[in-house]
Amino acid sequence: MYNQLMIEKFYITTAIDYVNGAPHIGHAYEKIYTDILFRHFKKRAKETFFLTGTDEHGIKIQKTAKNMGITPKELCDINSAQFKDAWKLLDIEYSKFIRTTDEDHKKIVQDIFEKLLKQGDIYKHSYTGLYCSGCETFLNPKDLDENGNCPIHGKKPEEVSEENYFFKLTKYKDKIIEHIKNNPGFILPEFRANEVLNQLENIEDISVSRMKSSVEWGIEVKSDPSQVIYVWIDALSNYITALGYDVNGNHSENFKKFWPVNFHIIGKDILKFHSIYWIAILMALGVELPKEIYAHGWITIDQNKMSKSTGNVIAPKTVMEAYELQCPDSLRYFMATAAANGKDGNYSDIDFKEKVNADLANNMGNLLNRTLNMLVKYFDGEIKEEFIADNDLNKKAEDITTEVQKYFDKCDIASAANAIIGLVDEANKYVNDTAPWSLAKNEQMAECGKVLYNVLNLMVKIALLIEPYCPNIAKAMADQLKFDINIKYSEIQPNMVKSGKLISKEEIAPVFLRLDSDFATNKKTV
Ligand code: ME8
Ligand code: MG
Repeated sequence: MYNQLMIEKFYITTAIDYVNGAPHIGHAYEKIYTDILFRHFKKRAKETFFLTGTDEHGIKIQKTAKNMGITPKELCDINSAQFKDAWKLLDIEYSKFIRTTDEDHKKIVQDIFEKLLKQGDIYKHSYTGLYCSGCETFLNPKDLDENGNCPIHGKKPEEVSEENYFFKLTKYKDKIIEHIKNNPGFILPEFRANEVLNQLENIEDISVSRMKSSVEWGIEVKSDPSQVIYVWIDALSNYITALGYDVNGNHSENFKKFWPVNFHIIGKDILKFHSIYWIAILMALGVELPKEIYAHGWITIDQNKMSKSTGNVIAPKTVMEAYELQCPDSLRYFMATAAANGKDGNYSDIDFKEKVNADLANNMGNLLNRTLNMLVKYFDGEIKEEFIADNDLNKKAEDITTEVQKYFDKCDIASAANAIIGLVDEANKYVNDTAPWSLAKNEQMAECGKVLYNVLNLMVKIALLIEPYCPNIAKAMADQLKFDINIKYSEIQPNMVKSGKLISKEEIAPVFLRLDSDFATNKKTV
């Protein structure tokens, strides 16, 4: 049954990106990933909300702005706009774009801090520690490399002595361990849960403020303006401030409707902050916990880590321009399938071109095109009343739809894409086995019509399933097959193609053009 897996509401978030640089395809990967989940669940939920945004405070922004001779806010405005532009180019359909410099966000963060302070979950403490400005965090001496440097930035951390506020993370340790153990699937992919449990063994209370004299660019502690709130309480809270959380319980309608979040989608490098720090903060606030936290892997370029210093950072726009893409569907599809569930993935021009040409052009696009052309050639584009539906094929489409939904429940969009392409393969095999062109030649028109009708019905299901990945291609398929691409999965009928005139020769257009084979060699994006 197509209506089995419907839900009431769906709320999904991405990490909010630091604005100390421009968006690259690693950031794009996460936003595409989340957008695909969002568009899929739009077909299964009555109400949906998709939050993304930018993380704008901290010493790096302060320093970069200073070097550029502009204010930190000016720098944030410029860079935040670049992220918004990139997401527009990629058809990322977010409901809200939060900036941590938004006034309402700042006010709620201050209230959260005061509440935690008042109830004793935050306390003041003098502290001497090793601070890495690259990580914007204090490092544990045992985390340093053999030269005493930060393992990520290769720099010696500074010894910093400050009186800061600390959050009692240790108080929540046992409760978090219990929650993770009792809720398999809370952390996805499940292989990451053990990593978090190991990290929990060594946690300490965490510093949640800095002296204003060392970091100016942050949200002030309301009751102590000599301190600013830094990094995690500010950034993580965005997931509830964006909905209108209120510390006194006078929550907005959006908060009441959408919290708890269904999926937090983040990179594996910040899983610890989400599955430990954020969970402890929510426990302290008495707010319900997220349902699932999904950590995706890293995207490399030609097998190299993207970094500004090696100069191999690719902006999504660069790829779009190099291939003269009219719409982002092929890039979205490639990114979605570039990594196996939660593992790292790689972008290369050759792989990109080969993957989308194989799946979207040769396999899916051609099938629709040649089927519609046969319908025009043999039946003048008309679906006759007497064309008969094949129950086995309908059952197959239904089974694959259920399988795809189950992958989506675990945020595994790469496996879901494989299952969808599996249905395309099935349809291609059916056409090749039944050979409608031979049936027409032998004047077995009823048989021939039946085959075309069944393939077109499969194409409707395929378009609906591929829509989250390739919204523009799916729309072009729906326009030719004359159905509404925005229906919910529960509205799918076994036979969606109506009888009567479906299409004329002039209306048939390829839904995806192969990427020119010369691009990969002559117009390299890297
Ligand atoms: O961590 N491949 O911001 P950020 C895949 N502001 N994902 C990548 C990537 C790559 N090459 N590079 C970055 C932050 N990402 C914080 C988050 S959330 C409350 C605060 C992902 O700009 C990264 O894993 O460093 C993270 O999920 C997101 O992009 C933003 O990274
Ligand atoms: Mg980062």
